Amino acid sequence: MPESLSSKEVHQIKEELLSAVKALKGQVINHESLSVGINWERSQPAGDKMKVVSGNKEEQIKKFYLQMKDCKKCPLAKTRKNLVFGQGNPEAKIVFVGEAPGADEDEQGVPFVGRAGQLLTDIIVKGMKLSRQDVYICNILKCRPPGNRNPLPEEICECEPFLKKQLQIIAPRVICALGKFAAQTLLKTETPISALRGRFHDYEGIKLMPTYHPAYLLRNPSAKKPVWEDVQEIMKEIGLD
Ligand code: URA
Repeated sequence: MPESLSSKEVHQIKEELLSAVKALKGQVINHESLSVGINWERSQPAGDKMKVVSGNKEEQIKKFYLQMKDCKKCPLAKTRKNLVFGQGNPEAKIVFVGEAPGADEDEQGVPFVGRAGQLLTDIIVKGMKLSRQDVYICNILKCRPPGNRNPLPEEICECEPFLKKQLQIIAPRVICALGKFAAQTLLKTETPISALRGRFHDYEGIKLMPTYHPAYLLRNPSAKKPVWEDVQEIMKEIGLD
């Protein structure tokens, strides 16, 4: 052991500690968001409209997470810090499906917590008058593609069954597919998102509304209007209008 550490070594140790704490925090949040100890009554700003009942789905989703959380089916397992399973209410009437975790999500193990996530949270909280715990949020890929590159077809192929199972357990009234990857993957189409959005499609008997991804809205604020129209259609469908 050296008697004193150089400032570079101290910095490196600090970075490693910080990263370990963040990863641990992610795992704790992931565990909590699997509804262990969540007080459902706390989060019902929409009054009785979004009736939340803690039930069997909670157990099923937790069991499923425990089964898949150490997934090594694709090389993203080697580069991820945290697997990002999903967050929210397994009894939700609406599930938002994004593309894949980014750096913030990978760090914390929670979907949509970066800048795009803040925008999605605004849509849910300010627009729909719900909380993130009233809905369920997840992604097509559960692990971050390095450098935020697009998901590869083989990654989607390995990971999609996890999403399918989540959706089977939750069985929401509506799925909102955020962006091209989510919409095209779930609907098995190459039609552009601009042509898919604005109307409901069928996903295994569940109504699916494609809309633009929040990250796209950050670059193209004028697309907020059509997204709000799509969200209003969803609200009508689940009785929140
Ligand atoms: N973009 C996504 O598609 N998903 C996330 O979880 C974050 C950003």
